[in-house]
Amino acid sequence: MKDKDIAALINAETKRQAEGLEMIPSENHTSADVLKALGSRLTDKYSEGYPGMRYYGGCENVDAVENLARDRAKKLFGVSHANVQPYSGSPANQAVYFALVDPGDTVMGMHLYFGGHMTHGLKVNFSGTIYRSVQYHTGKDGYLDYTEMAKMVKAEKPKLIFVGATAYPRIFDWARLREIADLSKAWLIADISHIAGLVVAGAHPSPVGHAHVITTTTHKTLRGPRGAMILCDGNASTPLKAVERKPENLPTLIDRAIIPGLQGGPHNHQTAAIAVALREASQPGFKRYGQQIVKNAKKLAEELLKRDYKLVTGGTDNHLLLIDLSNKKVIGADAEKALGRAGVTVNKNTVPFDPRPPFSPSGIRMGTPALTTRGMKEKEMVQIADWIDQAVKNHQNAKILRQLSNEVKEFCRQFPLPSDK
Ligand SMILES: Cc1ncc(COP(=O)(O)O)c(C=O)c1O
Repeated sequence: MKDKDIAALINAETKRQAEGLEMIPSENHTSADVLKALGSRLTDKYSEGYPGMRYYGGCENVDAVENLARDRAKKLFGVSHANVQPYSGSPANQAVYFALVDPGDTVMGMHLYFGGHMTHGLKVNFSGTIYRSVQYHTGKDGYLDYTEMAKMVKAEKPKLIFVGATAYPRIFDWARLREIADLSKAWLIADISHIAGLVVAGAHPSPVGHAHVITTTTHKTLRGPRGAMILCDGNASTPLKAVERKPENLPTLIDRAIIPGLQGGPHNHQTAAIAVALREASQPGFKRYGQQIVKNAKKLAEELLKRDYKLVTGGTDNHLLLIDLSNKKVIGADAEKALGRAGVTVNKNTVPFDPRPPFSPSGIRMGTPALTTRGMKEKEMVQIADWIDQAVKNHQNAKILRQLSNEVKEFCRQFPLPSDK
């Protein structure tokens, strides 16, 4: 690369990832093929519209790329329609609101401080500004309170309910959630951004057949490039036609919301990289990968519990752990900093009913998708739990943190990033 400044920064970031433990649960390490597709000439091409219906010439190759991505997504998740054009998870969610509700309509989602995403109705997000947003919570035990949620639906009569999370360590009961949505004839939207890879691997129940629409990012457990997809069932899409808001019209409603509703030209290099990741996720090895993510998270939870860590809900069913540090005499931000210095990247996070302010919460969130990609298993989780404990206990001791970071660096040599294998 001729740009030495950017080349140096890319190298520095690659080194940081290779020499440390990436434990932010929404992150992963993509394959060399995904990176190749992302860095291809496809990024040069404009192709507003959909395959066979473009506003630009020269689209024969990008049409084929998008068709492949759509077909692979449909097959992998078992749905009849897939839109692979959303630029990322937030615009995908925005498209769903745009497709299915009007400004001022009541919508529901899990509150950010209890694990939901900003786009699920946070007051300062578009979703809590344009719509009348009502937010549900977890109970004191950290589990989603389905009974309370049903009462709220009966009282507030939302037209659309988002279910999905950024910091929830348990599985979602999709059948029960659909029953709750049906109480007010609301659209049920499953945002499986965090768990898409687990759903593919059969390590988390699929919302297909329960949710009306499924949104997902492609860059988390699914291990693709940054991007997103919207999945649904219904009649073949006719995005040039205005249609009624009925379940059978979902493909058309979604496609029209993406373009002309919200976006212009699709990012074709990203679509190709999504197609590559979907092919990878359809290989038998990916099932083992998804199952191992959960096994690793459970082992890490077990080891941290032994070391007297307070885990929200007492453990995990998925890829992440939410740790309440209130018994450890350290706040989330300081633990995040200390772990970072020891070579372990996590993020500070609110815990349910957190007494501390959201910008300086009591907890940290960590997950196993990226570690599992590098080939780490239960045995390594025991060692990692020990490093986490040492770093938290010695969060003010620079010498010990430096020593830990050297140990982590040495350990990481045995587990190269996928692109370096
Ligand atoms: C559940 C959920 N939905 C949506 C998003 C938004 O994705 P993006 O950051 O790509 O906009 C995230 C990202 O963290 C998420 O966790």
